[in-house]
Amino acid sequence: MQIKNEICVDFLSRMENVAFARLTVAAFLLAEDPTLEELGDIKTAVSEAVTNAIVHGYRAATGTVRMRARLGAEGDVEIEIVDNGCGIADIAQARKPFFSGDGGERAGMGFLVMESFMDSVEVESAPGEGTMVRMRKRLGAAQTAAARA
Ligand SMILES: Nc1ncnc2c1ncn2[C@@H]1O[C@H](COP(=O)(O)OP(=O)(O)OP(=O)(O)O)[C@@H](O)[C@H]1O
Ligand SMILES: [Mg+2]
Repeated sequence: MQIKNEICVDFLSRMENVAFARLTVAAFLLAEDPTLEELGDIKTAVSEAVTNAIVHGYRAATGTVRMRARLGAEGDVEIEIVDNGCGIADIAQARKPFFSGDGGERAGMGFLVMESFMDSVEVESAPGEGTMVRMRKRLGAAQTAAARA
């Protein structure tokens, strides 16, 4: 993808930074004039991935979460959320709807939400090293389809 714009932000794994991340990604995308639905979808997916990095990746510890967002010339958005936390031993199991590790206290819906709201979600992870979630979505897809119809 031909990169039109890119940001990379590091922040501490504190819960108040979930809001920081979602607002930052929204601000980054505003120049592209996204629909409210597109903006809402991306903000929600980012919130889920960042919450996972904080809650599951670092647990009680504090570490750094990196958010990289790229915008392609065709309106393609690519967002990576990276932590250097505990990692995921079984990625396929973690991605299953309603699966939650850590004693199963949570709903296990985060990956499902990311997959529903974004066009694609890739997860790379290694136990003890950390996790990278890469999500993609093309802006303007709905308008393009409507114009074609
Ligand atoms: N960054 C991460 N580091 C370590 N483990 C993770 C990470 N992200 C997800 N996981 C594991 O994958 C499981 C599923 O994540 P998912 O977001 O789908 O559900 P959840 O966080 O458990 O619940 P919910 O998101 O609905 O509150 C988590 O319970 C956790 O075990
Ligand atoms: Mg989650």
